[in-house]
Amino acid sequence: MGKSRLILDCDPGQDDAVNLLLAFAAKDRFDILGITTVAGNAPLALTQRNARLIADLAGVADIPIHAGCDRPMARDLITAAHVHGSTGLDGVDLWEPRTPLAAQHGVHFLVDALRAAPDASVTLVPTGPLTNIAMALALAPDIASKIAHIVLMGGAMREGGNITPSAEFNFYVDPHAAERVLQCGRPITVFGLDVTHQLLCTPERLARIAAIGGPLARAVHDWLGFFNRFDSAKYGSPGAPLHDPCTMAYLLAPQLFAVKSCAIRIETVSPLTLGHSAVDFWSVTGAPANANWAYGVDAEGFFDLLLHHLERF
Ligand code: RIB
Ligand code: CA
Repeated sequence: MGKSRLILDCDPGQDDAVNLLLAFAAKDRFDILGITTVAGNAPLALTQRNARLIADLAGVADIPIHAGCDRPMARDLITAAHVHGSTGLDGVDLWEPRTPLAAQHGVHFLVDALRAAPDASVTLVPTGPLTNIAMALALAPDIASKIAHIVLMGGAMREGGNITPSAEFNFYVDPHAAERVLQCGRPITVFGLDVTHQLLCTPERLARIAAIGGPLARAVHDWLGFFNRFDSAKYGSPGAPLHDPCTMAYLLAPQLFAVKSCAIRIETVSPLTLGHSAVDFWSVTGAPANANWAYGVDAEGFFDLLLHHLERF
């Protein structure tokens, strides 16, 4: 059986960076068709640059990196410099990326790559606002049949919101895109704050990363050290939740996670609850399930998996 085809869509972001490195470390298992970047944690000019820096760091030169949408579908962009710093990748002294930016717009790349692929053969791994994915589906609805699975980070249920009391950041930045993707009819697995908040970057776990040694592990350690400061202070926790790497970890080791088939809808109107993910965990609406909702994880197994892959560089 051939390698699974992947396209990662991201807004690096320190946790996006770790997810990209996890994917790069598993190139023997996945055929990464390309990376698309989106405005979210930082403006697009920075998220596309950051994805290229991460490719530099990993020594990956054969995966095209595209810039996608620089704003949400129907509202003004908000970013998260308060979490990720002014560069979007604060914590490490950054450099001018050697990895080039592909010329094609990320949405057009998604359409062309999916159209060229066999039916139900490409897994999409979005870890930022879903603008690029939703725009590709709007531009070319025929590509839906080429999507095998969408494994995304976003949303919250019991955990509450992290950017408003009701909404998680990715879904809040572009709620219209989130609703359109969640209603696309293809298999979707959603990693929200309920599961990511079980995966804290504690000092012990950061020490294990540092002990790997070498410039890549040191960069990951320093990125997560910076990433820790805001959420640790906010939640009074021993580390920040490591959100985005849940997606690649699930593709590598699904047994680490507990998921449940649920109907999930996104609030796109109310100013008070915009971006809220209404997860019908107990099937009280009777609506048909449109996604798998992740609600549990083996945290030690997750970090063992992450360390094992970081050691491969
Ligand atoms: O709410 C967490 C999500 O928002 C993560 O994807 C993080 O990178 C930010 O994009
Ligand atoms: Ca992200």
